[in-house]
Amino acid sequence: MIDITIEKMSEKHIAELAEVEQQSFSRPWSYDGLKAELDNLSAVFFVAVADGKAVGYIGFHTVLDEAYIANIAVLPEYRRKGIASALLQCAIDFCKENGFAFITLEVRRSNINAVALYKKFAFEIVGERKNFYTAPTENAYIMTLYFGGPNQ
Ligand code: COA
Repeated sequence: MIDITIEKMSEKHIAELAEVEQQSFSRPWSYDGLKAELDNLSAVFFVAVADGKAVGYIGFHTVLDEAYIANIAVLPEYRRKGIASALLQCAIDFCKENGFAFITLEVRRSNINAVALYKKFAFEIVGERKNFYTAPTENAYIMTLYFGGPNQ
C-alpha cells in the first residue's frame, strides 16, 4: 500500500482531478463539472493525495439516508496499490457514521476491475439498467451495499 492521505475535495484539487477523469473515462467530467460539486450541498467527495498531488477520488451524492456513488477513479500509474479501496472504505465509513441505509452505484457490465472492487466490499448486483452508458453503449449493473445488517 502506497503512502496516501485522504482529504475532502477542495478547489486546489480540481485541476488534478480533471486529469484523473481524462485518463479514466471516455466521457470525463470537466474541470467545471467537478468544481460545481464544491457548491452542491448533497455532494461528498474524498481525494487521495500521493507524491504531493491528487491521484484519485470518490464522489457520491446523498438523498436523505441514501448514498449514490457518482464516480471513483485513480490515475493509471497509481492503480493496483489499494487507493480505490482506501477511498471506498472512507465513503463506507462516512455512510455508517451518519446512519445511512445503503450506498449504491452503476457500473459498466464490462468493467470487471470495478465490479471486482465493489464485490470485495460486499456490494451485490441488485439490478441492471439497459443501455445506460454511451461511448460505447452498454448496460449498467446496479450494485448496492446495505447497512444495518447483523454483521455491519
Ligand atoms: N484486475 C483485477 N481486479 C482489479 C483490478 C485489475 N486490474 N484493479 C482493481 N481490481 C479489484 C481487485 O479486486 C482489487 O483487490 P485486490 O488488489 O485485493 O485483488 C480491488 O479492485 C481493489 O484494488 P485497488 O488497488 O484498491 O483499486 P485501484 O486503486 O487500482 O482502482 C479502479 C480501481 C476501478 C478505480 C481503477 O481501475 C480505475 O480508476 N479505473 C478507471 C475508472 C473506473 O472504471 N471507475 C469505476 C467506475 S464505476
